[in-house]
Amino acid sequence: MVKLLLTSLFCCFLWSEVEAISDMALLSQSSGRHLLQGSTPVPLNPSLQNVIIALQVWKNAITSDPLGITSTWVGPDVCRYKGVFCSPPPDKSCQLVVSGIDLNHGQLTGTMPEELGLLKYLAFFHINTNFFSGPIPYSFKYLYLLFELDISPDIVLQIPSLAYLDIRFNGFEGTLPAALFDKQSLDAIFVNNNYFACYIPDNLGNSPVSVVNFANNDLYGSIPASIGNMFKTLNEINFLNNKLSGCIPQEVGALTQLTVFDSSFNLLSSTLPHTIANMISLVDLDVGDNLLNGVVPAGICDLPNLANFTFSDNFFIDESPDCLGLLPSRGAILNDRGNCIPNIPFQQPPQQCAAFLSQPTTDCDPT
Ligand SMILES: *[C@@H]1O[C@H](CO)[C@@H](O)[C@H](O)[C@H]1NC(C)=O
Repeated sequence: MVKLLLTSLFCCFLWSEVEAISDMALLSQSSGRHLLQGSTPVPLNPSLQNVIIALQVWKNAITSDPLGITSTWVGPDVCRYKGVFCSPPPDKSCQLVVSGIDLNHGQLTGTMPEELGLLKYLAFFHINTNFFSGPIPYSFKYLYLLFELDISPDIVLQIPSLAYLDIRFNGFEGTLPAALFDKQSLDAIFVNNNYFACYIPDNLGNSPVSVVNFANNDLYGSIPASIGNMFKTLNEINFLNNKLSGCIPQEVGALTQLTVFDSSFNLLSSTLPHTIANMISLVDLDVGDNLLNGVVPAGICDLPNLANFTFSDNFFIDESPDCLGLLPSRGAILNDRGNCIPNIPFQQPPQQCAAFLSQPTTDCDPT
């Protein structure tokens, strides 16, 4: 009896730690998690049987593991597996569930099996800087949908929510599920440095995240106009090095909390929207290496916090005097190289400018 009481007190203590950690949106690499791992004498939840199956299938799908991480994945105590984190479940019962996977910098090569969908209590899943390839398991999408299933609200509230999707620097291919951007529990989406080849879903703007990184994929089509709906939360967005085309939507002007906008190394065309001048928090603006043309307007170079404005390697024909005077006088960096601007050094060859400007792209339809 005393033992039981002690155990439940212990569990409640653990759960309050878990709540504190998830309150921090799991954005910081809290060392508190390590308190949870291995601190057990708490019975295993029967659902851990499924987790053991899932992790053993995953282990078999991993073809290279130079750091020997999965060599610790033996036996029934999954909470002691390296990179696997346990906590009491949302009902605060005294049985542990797997609440997180953190294999960042694991250098693992392999694929991700559908069985990973069995990790139904997963609150965080970090696998950046590995070499995973192939599609993201369909069962992951199913987990997102599960969260939105119309079941009784208190049950929905008890399901730990995914706050931080970090799958950058892998070899994932295929499409980005639209449900990702409807998921209201997310704070950050890092899908950069994969092989996603698809349109950015039109419901991008439904996402409440503060950071999105799409860089270094094969995304095509245009930047969805719904991006303007992210004005309450969005601080940074990165589209670097994809195949995006069409215009930069004028709706970006609503993003008054955005500090970083990078759409460099794409196929964006037409002129810069004047609404960028409303993005008063912008610090870094990079639209370099696109097919942009027209004039760089004064309003952008007058932005009070702008510290680094790159629009090199486009087909601009002029820039406001404020870009050449005011902005550098404040110590900001301006990179206007590789355009078609008269009397500015390091511009494109005149023939190349003439050829492009005889048929400039001005419509906003993606190619
Ligand atoms: C300015 O931006 C460019 C392009 O994004 C980047 O390469 C450069 O490192 C930045 N400079 C500074 C000092 O941050």
